[in-house]
Amino acid sequence: MSGTTKNPPGKKKATNTKPKTFKFSPENTASIPDILDLYPAGRQESAVMPLLTLAQRQIGGWLTRAAMDRVAEILGMAPIRVYEVATFYSMYNHAPVGKNHIQICTTTPCWLRGSDEVVASCHKILGIGLGETSEDGEFTLGEVECLGACVNAPMLKINDDYFEDLDPARVEAILTLLKRGDKPRHGAAPASGPTTLLEVPARGPGSGRGKS
Ligand code: FES
Repeated sequence: MSGTTKNPPGKKKATNTKPKTFKFSPENTASIPDILDLYPAGRQESAVMPLLTLAQRQIGGWLTRAAMDRVAEILGMAPIRVYEVATFYSMYNHAPVGKNHIQICTTTPCWLRGSDEVVASCHKILGIGLGETSEDGEFTLGEVECLGACVNAPMLKINDDYFEDLDPARVEAILTLLKRGDKPRHGAAPASGPTTLLEVPARGPGSGRGKS
């Protein structure tokens, strides 16, 4: 899951400097040694991404400067090195995002298979463009580079879930369900439900699902 966000939500607003302090919750603090344990001794900096993800989930889908500084402090890294990671990957947000953070892949395979129509359908149904959040705070629309699901292009990601093999009708059905507060079926799984990746890992990256 990599690539830079072309239009990061709220890029022009320097809102990530507030609040000025950040503390991991007691529950998340207790999980940090387990995360560090996943990496060889002396290589704890490798935990920078899972710790940033942990902080982002705690904050509600985005990272403050103070949270990145706390991760740097825990890992003994220079803050600038944490900022470099957090600003490179589109999975980290630097301003508040909507409850449903929609990221549309527009890289060549998805573009050839109709990502322009996916963007247009989202715009039509939600009334927002790329890089914008709906007034009710329910939806943020972003554009990302390849998310590794090219075989089922075009696709988009909503929070942790991938939606693949899209066309305007399917996008409309997904967004209509979300607007109603229902959960649409995600992935490219059979209609009878997924047959693989059924278990959530007990610990480590991927063990906590939520907005990212
Ligand atoms: S090009 Fe869209 S997922 Fe790879």
